[in-house]
Amino acid sequence: MRVVSGIQPTGNLHLGNYLGAIRNWVRMQDEMEDANRAQAAAGGSAQGNQCLFFLADLHAISMPHVPAELRAATLEMVAALVACGIDPDRSVLFNQAQVPAHSELQWLLSGTARMGWLSRMTQFKDKSGKNREGASIALFTYPVLQAADVLLYQATHVPVGEDQKQHLELARDIAQKFNNDFASDEDPVFTLPEPYIPPEAARIMSLRDGTAKMSKSDPSDMSRINLSDDADTMMKKVKKAKTDPEPLPSEAAGLEGRPEAKNLVAIYAAFTGQDIEGVLGEFGGAGFGTFKPALGELLVETLAPMAARFNELKADRESLDAILARGAARAREIAGPTLSRAYQALGLIRG
Ligand code: TYM
Repeated sequence: MRVVSGIQPTGNLHLGNYLGAIRNWVRMQDEMEDANRAQAAAGGSAQGNQCLFFLADLHAISMPHVPAELRAATLEMVAALVACGIDPDRSVLFNQAQVPAHSELQWLLSGTARMGWLSRMTQFKDKSGKNREGASIALFTYPVLQAADVLLYQATHVPVGEDQKQHLELARDIAQKFNNDFASDEDPVFTLPEPYIPPEAARIMSLRDGTAKMSKSDPSDMSRINLSDDADTMMKKVKKAKTDPEPLPSEAAGLEGRPEAKNLVAIYAAFTGQDIEGVLGEFGGAGFGTFKPALGELLVETLAPMAARFNELKADRESLDAILARGAARAREIAGPTLSRAYQALGLIRG
């Protein structure tokens, strides 16, 4: 297994990122460790399974940005990931900008990706809005870089939230066409990656609007819980979360048409490892005056230790730089053979 995933270092790590993706990164890192141990015990390679996690800083320049803020946010995001449990000794943790193979492979794949495929990407439509003519080329070709990110490492599994599913389908299409056009069936250049989307937290919604996803780009900070929020802020945000006046239902069907209630119950379920029915078994009939404080306490209890670790780590610039340098060196090494094969398959001569 080769697990690969990324996060843009824009703004804070929020609850949607954590439940939709990062929590699974940590789980997969731990599973990988167990699998490697079992393989080593059986006499095989102890390095066979690997996780690579990266800061998608190159993706972040597809939208207007302030360079100094990007630099600071990249380092903060490293601290946040380590605080959440990503261990740079067990996983390869790096930023794209230090691994030029990402940009190189993006260009090599650009001959294979089709205009029509990219034109159908909903993220481009959403982010360019009415100003499509004024959108950057990078925003349009963004999914080709994302394909390069995973194909470069022969990723088998890509843990992401639901909003990244379309980009990963595109990565598979690009890989398949490249293999068909430039390689033999017996010896393909790229592995087709599988998205891994957690069913219980595929799409965490805004605390202010249950029909919009929780997002870093929402102008209202009250719409999301950030890892950097202190306990009082987290509790305040949960208590002020938009809800309706009805008590919670006793069965999941009763949440239909109540997106805000559904979202809060889903968050509670994701944190406790219960299903929706289980949470409603406990809280069915209760009002939000009872449920919100219970949810707030659960969040604070789970996230406070990570927030404390994050605050410690983010001040240690030297360690963060060292983590990225070490991760990037390892990533460049792993990427080398696939990048060479891609050049070769296309008939490009490299000295
Ligand atoms: P980004 O930085 O927007 O988000 C990082 C991860 O968090 C997930 N996520 C959510 N999951 C559930 N509910 C939400 N409200 C929510 N908001 C965010 C995202 O699905 C993602 O898994 N393009 C990517 C970064 C990227 C990448 C890649 C990911 C670049 N290359 C290669 C995987 C593989 C992005 O902008 O994610």
